[in-house]
Amino acid sequence: MHPLGKKTITSYQNHLPRRVCFGRGQLDHIVDRCKELDRSRVFVVSDTGVEAAGLLDVTLERLAESGLLCGSFAQIAPEPPIEQVDQLASLLKESQSDLVIAIGGGSVMDATKVAGVLAKHSGSARDYVGIGKVPSRGIASILVPTTSGTGSEATFVAILTDKSTGNKAGVVSPHLLADVAIVDPSLTDRLPVQITAATGMDAMVHALEALIAKCSTPLARGLALQSAGNIGWALEAVVQDPSNLRARDAMSLGSHLAGMSFANSSCCGVHALALPLGGRYPIPHGVITGTFFSEVMRLNASACAEEFGDFSVALGWGNLSTAEFCNRIETLAQSIGLFDQLHRFTIDADSIQDMAKDACANRRLMDPNPVAISEQSAQAIYRKLLKV
Ligand SMILES: NC(=O)c1ccc[n+]([C@@H]2O[C@H](COP(=O)([O-])OP(=O)(O)OC[C@H]3O[C@@H](n4cnc5c(N)ncnc54)[C@H](O)[C@@H]3O)[C@@H](O)[C@H]2O)c1
Ligand SMILES: [Fe+2]
Repeated sequence: MHPLGKKTITSYQNHLPRRVCFGRGQLDHIVDRCKELDRSRVFVVSDTGVEAAGLLDVTLERLAESGLLCGSFAQIAPEPPIEQVDQLASLLKESQSDLVIAIGGGSVMDATKVAGVLAKHSGSARDYVGIGKVPSRGIASILVPTTSGTGSEATFVAILTDKSTGNKAGVVSPHLLADVAIVDPSLTDRLPVQITAATGMDAMVHALEALIAKCSTPLARGLALQSAGNIGWALEAVVQDPSNLRARDAMSLGSHLAGMSFANSSCCGVHALALPLGGRYPIPHGVITGTFFSEVMRLNASACAEEFGDFSVALGWGNLSTAEFCNRIETLAQSIGLFDQLHRFTIDADSIQDMAKDACANRRLMDPNPVAISEQSAQAIYRKLLKV
């Protein structure tokens, strides 16, 4: 592999969390991490699923015993709406917290990233939607993923739901980067198998989109292939046997590396098509990206032969042709049940046109895609995959 493939890049920037603590048991040291940041009023954010899985109690106890805990909120909704992020920001302000800890999947981490900014600045999350609208860092943050999927603990993107437009809204700014990311695979040990499958496939999409994006950087390309080396064997293994802890570890690492990768490159067409659908229907993000993956890659194939080959080898699939590679992705999504999960939702045929329009209007995600995707092609993909 040439470090930049066929691309010519003359300049780039890289962004990473200030500190990453990876490994089983890392969350046990949460009090030390807070003290090292020299913060004394700590607020914990999560959701009901994570709380019910018993992943909050010990951390809340440790923080309370050390006198650091000033509040908690464990009600973040999946794919969080803008209004809820504004409410969370009010709670952070009322409690005068100077450090916020998110323990959860992408929904909890994304809501926390934006609320942490609002706690220091004025206004609504809506004011910060777009690229580079956040003026400076918010209160300090520690992000702790409990799914192996979004890699949000490593990125400076937060995706919120805008109920007024039915679309998803991205807040994008390096000021969202975590002070500390704690990636403790033990938190994923009892993640239900359907969520494991969907979030794991989302991580694979992040890695490949980061590799093929027109704006990929040398760091992103290396991270994407390392991510594939983990997810390639571990995703099917963990879906077959959710008690396989080696596979859980590899999925945690793979999704984190993929997050760092696309933070230093971009997601592309799969995510551009996913966001309008996820904003209108309560379909889990990874179910959408996982099922749209192969079809969008078929469109990209003519421009990505080298990258698909490298990625396929890194996954452990061998040097497949582009067609074989896309077929293999589709078979994987089928075999881990993602198409079954997608087809439980009924889609209104009238929404297809608007979704295709919104997808193509998302220049942040469409411009880096290696092949231009027209509204017509986007509509065709929606119709084929959603069976409308
Ligand atoms: N910021 C980014 O860079 C980025 C990237 C991709 C996706 N996203 C966004 O992230 C969100 C999706 O995040 P997600 O896929 O992690 O899912 P999620 O955070 O919505 O969680 C899905 C479900 O899993 C449950 N859950 C989480 N961890 C659990 C555990 N360990 N045990 C039991 N249940 C658990 C939650 O309670 C929830 O019900 C979407 O809004 C998506 O748009 C963000
Ligand atoms: Fe994603």
